Amino acid sequence: MRKINIGLLGLGTVGSGVTSILQKNSFDINTRTGADIKVKRALVQDLAKTRDLSKDILLSDKVSDILDDPEIDIVVEAMGGIEPARTYIITALNNGKNVVTANKDLLAAHGQELFEVAQKNKRDLYYEASVAGGIPIIAALRQSLTANRISSLIGIINGTTNYILSDMTDKGRDYNEVLRESQELGYAEADPTSDIEGLDAARKLAILSTIAFNTRVTIDDVFSEGISKVSKEDIKYADELNCVIKLLAIAKNQEDGIEVRVHPALLPKNHPLATVNGVYNAIYVVGDAVGETMFYGKGAGSLPTGSAVVSDIIQIARNLESKSVGLSDCDSYRNYPIKSSDDFTTGYYIRVKVKDEPRVFASLALFFAEAGISFASIIQKPRSNEKAEIVLVTHPCKESQLKQAVASLNSYSKLDKIYNVIRMETNGF
Ligand code: NAP
Ligand code: HSE
Repeated sequence: MRKINIGLLGLGTVGSGVTSILQKNSFDINTRTGADIKVKRALVQDLAKTRDLSKDILLSDKVSDILDDPEIDIVVEAMGGIEPARTYIITALNNGKNVVTANKDLLAAHGQELFEVAQKNKRDLYYEASVAGGIPIIAALRQSLTANRISSLIGIINGTTNYILSDMTDKGRDYNEVLRESQELGYAEADPTSDIEGLDAARKLAILSTIAFNTRVTIDDVFSEGISKVSKEDIKYADELNCVIKLLAIAKNQEDGIEVRVHPALLPKNHPLATVNGVYNAIYVVGDAVGETMFYGKGAGSLPTGSAVVSDIIQIARNLESKSVGLSDCDSYRNYPIKSSDDFTTGYYIRVKVKDEPRVFASLALFFAEAGISFASIIQKPRSNEKAEIVLVTHPCKESQLKQAVASLNSYSKLDKIYNVIRMETNGF
């Protein structure tokens, strides 16, 4: 049986999931691939750390022990961060190794460079674990759905924010209270900025839309807005409108280009994504031949993410066996234009507090009419001190039109406050 040696860069949450799956399921994995796949060595920062690890796996704090070892066939990068991970992957590929990475931060910023190095060296660079942990969405887009023209892809691809919004919805709690508790319980990181500000989801969306639309999309192309302004009152109004609020990662291929955006959005309760709660992830994909599909599962964690990494290792083992490594590039042959945020088309929810007196409603209607925007529904609640709280819901319009209406609102003397403006996902399914 052919021997395939793995060099692991990083032995934390993901790296230890990989070693444990390779050990636990070794019989099936080896039988399915016809190869004896073993982790030979793992790179760590701190050799003195106590680890629950098989004695067969050698540890090192010198990367050359892996990158320069001719017996290592596949390097798995599970360290995270941009550098030194980027340099290590490039060196591994230049040294003739195949690479698996879980690193969305790196791929969303430097994907093109890394794929070019892989192609130049005729080596595989696989990255299933970089998006949505255990959900096999990258394999689905690159293989199973490749007969289709993908028109839209909408994901809940950040577990932390989905947990927070689900808890606010279920228990009517405040954003800050839920965030604090989820940090104490370890669901949110001590510094949750990249999760709650939408950057983590934006990186994942850059990777997915690059594959779905055969167009290079980087993190800088993705519009992103986080969930910190969503209040329990917005969630209650959404419920009255028969919607839930989710942090959505949206990619759409339209006649005038592609839209790539991450933001909180009202989503009708009958949308398949509306029932995806807690730390779970899901990606809803629409293809011209297959129609609607949805992929659901755990978006993070040692074993779910390890499952994605090991499936990439297995695919490379099969490619080595069939002498077809280096054939699976991420081809950006379409190169569609990426739309600016002013051209995004979506519905909007606008919650305002205004003076409760005659003509105020007429003025609000006029601001939106002048911007060419039509209302889909309106809610008014009486408030104290002669003020009224009003929720305006628009039909889909361009973001530039909405900006014009909001500018008029902001200069209106009877306006007390704009509480929030949240996009509404009404089409695309
Ligand atoms: P982690 O638990 O912090 O583990 C990182 C590992 O890398 C540790 O073993 C650490 O060594 C080692 N390391 C870090 N920097 C190093 C350096 N400069 N030199 C040598 N070793 C270094 O991280 P993780 O959660 O497993 O995440 C790894 C990657 O997977 C990241 O790109 C992350 O975005 C991605 N990912 C994670 C998840 C998840 O659920 N955690 C899900 C999907 C994708 P020590 O052990 O000595 O500290
Ligand atoms: N921080 C991510 C999340 C997990 O909350 O979904 C790793 O991708």
